[in-house]
Amino acid sequence: MADQTWTPTGIDTSTPTPARMYDYCLGGKDNFAVDREAVLGFVTQFREGLDVTRENRLFLYRVVRYLARDAGIRQFLDMGSGLPTQANVHEVAQQFQPEAHVVYVDNDPIVLAHGRALLSADATTVIQADMTDPRDVLAHPDVNRLIDFDQPVAALFLSVAHSIPDDEQVRGMFAATVDALAPGSFLAMSQFVGVDRETADAHTRKATEMGLVWKTRTVEDFEPLVPDLERVPPGLVDVADWRPDPDQPPLSSVDAPLQPFLGASGDDKQVKEYGGVLRKN
Ligand SMILES: C[S@@+](CC[C@H](N)C(=O)[O-])C[C@H]1O[C@@H](n2cnc3c(N)ncnc32)[C@H](O)[C@@H]1O
Repeated sequence: MADQTWTPTGIDTSTPTPARMYDYCLGGKDNFAVDREAVLGFVTQFREGLDVTRENRLFLYRVVRYLARDAGIRQFLDMGSGLPTQANVHEVAQQFQPEAHVVYVDNDPIVLAHGRALLSADATTVIQADMTDPRDVLAHPDVNRLIDFDQPVAALFLSVAHSIPDDEQVRGMFAATVDALAPGSFLAMSQFVGVDRETADAHTRKATEMGLVWKTRTVEDFEPLVPDLERVPPGLVDVADWRPDPDQPPLSSVDAPLQPFLGASGDDKQVKEYGGVLRKN
């Protein structure tokens, strides 16, 4: 897809999308010139952006490993799943729970197209749906085929809440999902936050100028949206600090233009992904 002369039917290649920009940051090839330019524009202004994005994907691995290996979860609902990449949720989960069922949910049609090509197994599927309407997602026939809501489920909302600018929609999305889950279920989440209001607003402005639907929040903005459930230690933190593991499988490297930004975050991040794991008792 890196071939800029190829335009797939039904895919808008004139505006960047979070799924394709994220793919570029992870070293993937399922992105277009507009996505690559948007990522470069972002990291030129917020130099830690590339590291933060990649830290989120490493966090995803540790979260899914914790849920499958340590908490014994065998059902995963991955909301805003993104394009298939390395260490996808079903691959990590099935490493520790071979029978794990995984439903990927995303509203970007490109995710559906690529996901369908990748996921042929009976235990995994991908659906195109809007996660801000969780009742619709939870009623979807494929979700009900693979997920038994009488048993514990892990609902993942990783690096997605900033794609929903309306606070009430985020709160409602988390709350309706929690309502549908059996005791012993988990909710994992992360969201881009700025260290202060000015930084968060500047980051939001940059994303909005690029055509993204976006809201970078502060921790103080995000916390009231989080359901009141038990927080798995260490709670909600910079995702780089959530049970860090220097021995976890590394990510692929990045395209040459992004390489100067690898490792640029240092100790003074102005923007980070803030997240963690909650348990419904
Ligand atoms: C940055 S990616 C995150 C991928 C993955 N969750 C991770 O953390 O590695 C965000 C994804 O959320 C999806 N997304 C944004 N808004 C959505 C919505 N309302 N419903 C479903 N998916 C959405 C985007 O299309 C994109 O693929």
